Amino acid sequence: MKRICAAALLGMFAMGPGATVSAAGLTEQQVREIAAEVAERVARQVAEEIAAKVAARIAEEYLEDNASENVELVFTPEFLSDPEHIAAGKEIWMGQCTLCHGAKAYPGKAPKLKPKRYTPNFVYDRITNGFRKMPPWGEVYDEEERMDLVAWILSRRFSP
Ligand code: HEC
Repeated sequence: MKRICAAALLGMFAMGPGATVSAAGLTEQQVREIAAEVAERVARQVAEEIAAKVAARIAEEYLEDNASENVELVFTPEFLSDPEHIAAGKEIWMGQCTLCHGAKAYPGKAPKLKPKRYTPNFVYDRITNGFRKMPPWGEVYDEEERMDLVAWILSRRFSP
């Protein structure tokens, strides 16, 4: 089959099936074949572009959600209710977080936490990455310590 640029092929396609012989000397059958090929290529290109955009968006969202941790941590009920983890989290909370959070903090430093509204992963993400005036603690406390803080904040004994 002769190689002709896509624009010319599309032009022929637009002429419709009535043409038996085009200006380029092609039969209706050839024009149909070329048109089908062009349509297929255009469709493939569009599909590839859409797929690339979707993939990019998924990757971006994934990276945002896991800004510094690439694994989704699993907080089991056993972990969250473990007295040792809760106690370890409380200790860090008292020594560090109450500078801004809690009844003894200087008023207005940080909003009252609302543990009933949080998922463990939300709390972990805020502690790890910070948010606006909340400092990030990902470099200060290791994964277990940050998980302990989550257990403490979500425990029944925690008072914001
Ligand atoms: C320098 C003050 C400061 C310190 C210290 C601090 N925080 Fe915060 N924290 C904030 C502020 C301010 C916010 C509110 C950020 C916002 O939403 O704009 C916040 C928000 C949070 C939130 C999310 C609350 C919500 O409802 O969105 C959590 C969870 C949290 N802090 C936990 C901690 C823990 C745990 C520590 C100790 C490791 C800590 N913070 C230490 C200032 C602080």
